[in-house]
Amino acid sequence: MRAVRFHDHGGPEQLMVEDVDRPTPGDGEVLVKVRAAAVNPVDTYFREGSYRPGGLPWVPGSDAAGVVTAVADDVTDYDPGDRVFATALGNDHQGTCAEYVAVPTDRLARLPDRVGFAAGAAGALVGVTAWQALIAQCGLEPGERVLVHGGSGGVGHVAVQVAHAAGARVTTTASPEYHGDLRDLGADDVLDYRRDDLADAIREAGQPDVVLDHRLDDYLGLDCEVAAFRGRIAAIGNTDAAATFPDVPAHRGKALTVHHVSMFNTPDVARVLQRLAALMDRGALAPQVARTYDLDEVSEAQEAVVEDSFLGKLVVEP
Ligand SMILES: NC(=O)c1ccc[n+]([C@@H]2O[C@H](COP(=O)([O-])OP(=O)(O)OC[C@H]3O[C@@H](n4cnc5c(N)ncnc54)[C@H](OP(=O)(O)O)[C@@H]3O)[C@@H](O)[C@H]2O)c1
Repeated sequence: MRAVRFHDHGGPEQLMVEDVDRPTPGDGEVLVKVRAAAVNPVDTYFREGSYRPGGLPWVPGSDAAGVVTAVADDVTDYDPGDRVFATALGNDHQGTCAEYVAVPTDRLARLPDRVGFAAGAAGALVGVTAWQALIAQCGLEPGERVLVHGGSGGVGHVAVQVAHAAGARVTTTASPEYHGDLRDLGADDVLDYRRDDLADAIREAGQPDVVLDHRLDDYLGLDCEVAAFRGRIAAIGNTDAAATFPDVPAHRGKALTVHHVSMFNTPDVARVLQRLAALMDRGALAPQVARTYDLDEVSEAQEAVVEDSFLGKLVVEP
């Protein structure tokens, strides 16, 4: 089969399309013919070596959607022909930028018939992350106000939809070109993150009970400033560990809590994927595909995911 692999850590030029053996599903695994694989910033961390993958050479890619073509003897809940989507690969398991991938069934769920493969892949890692952040960790409840920073990105645009589906009122920040799209996806208040009076504008929309922050170095201080009493902050990424424990009086005075969320430490990925599938099936979650790429364009896609601005996700179609 054709697969993208890197043999050494480094820049996008390390990514090569190669002919390799088709994987054989091990115990508890199914073999999936990949129809779509999403591109995430974390793919670049594994390629660069700031996160260490399971070995080298390595196939990048956390997310896949496709069709089951074979199942291990001990797998009883999936059959060849099932449409599925998966995430949490490309870490300790070879990734998804390939024609086939072996997937443990605890990282897999059925993809509803009405959902295309590209949308399924696009919603996997970011959907699990948004669900863990807003629902599982921060316990977002109907009627609460949520603030999603960077609502047009992969995590952001899915978080806006998950929060809206949960009955929350949603404030999000984004570049002006995406404001209309984000209102269509369920945001109540959309603010340009570049405005000087951002904190005032967020408070005016309504003090957030829950904040989803993937730029802690920029915003943790602001989060503490604007959050409601007993606000919960979902911290899904930061480059400065000290930023997660700020000495901000508001942090103590308002009894705020910071929840550290990582997609890779989600206890039951398959269960969260099932919930996302249910949302997609009833049209409450529609992951957006900004662009698609061929397998031999994965280096271009990995550059774009950290450098370009787009609404939703970049997707590889092998
Ligand atoms: N912990 C986890 O499990 C986990 C899971 C997923 C992602 N992450 C991390 O979360 C981050 C976002 O991931 P992603 O997939 O959503 O990336 P993405 O698709 O590239 O989205 C990034 C978003 O941030 C916005 N942005 C840029 N500068 C901003 C600013 N100053 N203020 C507010 N928003 C700004 C971008 O808007 P423009 O288009 O206007 O630039 C874009 O909407 C990455 O660092 C990723 O590694 C962590």
